[in-house]
Amino acid sequence: MASMAANKLVVFVLLALLGSSNGDGYTSPGSIAGGLTVGHYKGTCDRAEEIVRDAVKNAIRGGGGDRGVGAGLIRLFFHDCFVQGCDASVLLDPTPASAAAPEKAGIPNLSLRGFEVIDAAKAALEGECPGVVSCADVVAFAGRDAAYLLSGNKVYFDMPAGRYDGRVSLASETLPNLPPPFAGVDRLKQMFAAKGLDTDDMVTLSGAHSIGVAHCSSFSDRLPPNASDMDPELAASLQQQCSSSSSNGGASGDNTVAQDVETPDKLDNKYYRNVVSHRVLFKSDAALLASPETRSLVSSYAESQRQWEEKFAAAMVKMGGVGVKTAADGEIRRQCRFVN
Ligand code: HEM
Repeated sequence: MASMAANKLVVFVLLALLGSSNGDGYTSPGSIAGGLTVGHYKGTCDRAEEIVRDAVKNAIRGGGGDRGVGAGLIRLFFHDCFVQGCDASVLLDPTPASAAAPEKAGIPNLSLRGFEVIDAAKAALEGECPGVVSCADVVAFAGRDAAYLLSGNKVYFDMPAGRYDGRVSLASETLPNLPPPFAGVDRLKQMFAAKGLDTDDMVTLSGAHSIGVAHCSSFSDRLPPNASDMDPELAASLQQQCSSSSSNGGASGDNTVAQDVETPDKLDNKYYRNVVSHRVLFKSDAALLASPETRSLVSSYAESQRQWEEKFAAAMVKMGGVGVKTAADGEIRRQCRFVN
């Protein structure tokens, strides 16, 4: 408990130190006064955060629980925030009335998972306090809770809330806004900066690649016969896993592999050790070691789990402030898959 409290304190200090406005319209934690507040549902839906945490816990730890879903929820939060801001636009299903395909149908989002956990949390919330808790906040709370559970309760932080749900969701906006696995540092920097996030945030948030899986098609450009700086032993193992006809590729034949060979189910700083030892999947991961701009932070995180945990918590909160909508341009959806 004591370390949890210390962690929270550090996050608040970091929040106070973070800038309030980035000049391009996005809100960041410093601008909590601009909308988001910690404990936002106190008085209107007291158990809101508890209900979301129960749904996440049940999905990860319950009967048939799956830690992979936790990875999916952290990624869902990132993909939500980078397209149209953190407004649950990623959750919208196609409808006969919608003219264009929603974000969900965009190429980078085809492998997202965890939607059913959001649905379960929202259903429980609507039972308790209908029309109060936004789907965007459910996604943010769920990402926070998954980080807590997958890190063995080490990554612990308050998530400011009060986001509204958006009504616009376009598949065509996914590729221009979500960084591809073959991006180098310059492109990564620029795509994060476009959301008001800096280079350190980008390095820090990439640590989420210490959990979950990737499809072989996402990194096959780095496997032989193509040249890459990947550790040859890892490259050989990946090649074998990617060419095997085991069941994990499903009908597509595009197999999945663990992102972190050391501790695939634990959100920890092993990702940075893997970056240092050339044992990462994507070019975007490897690029963090290749560039002098990011290398020193990678080394520092590889050495200090605690430092990374604290920075990761703060960066998740900062990401949660990207492009937040208000009552003026959003709504509180009744069902997360459809606009009201
Ligand atoms: C820095 C730029 C990033 C790039 C280029 C990138 C790219 C990718 C790709 C290609 C995958 C695998 C998809 C697949 O093949 O199925 C993936 C998985 C994942 N990413 Fe990222 N990502 C980035 C940043 C982030 C951030 C900021 C987070 C969250 C804070 C994140 C969390 C995850 C997680 C948890 C997974 C595993 C998901 C699962 O197992 O379902 N990524 N990422």
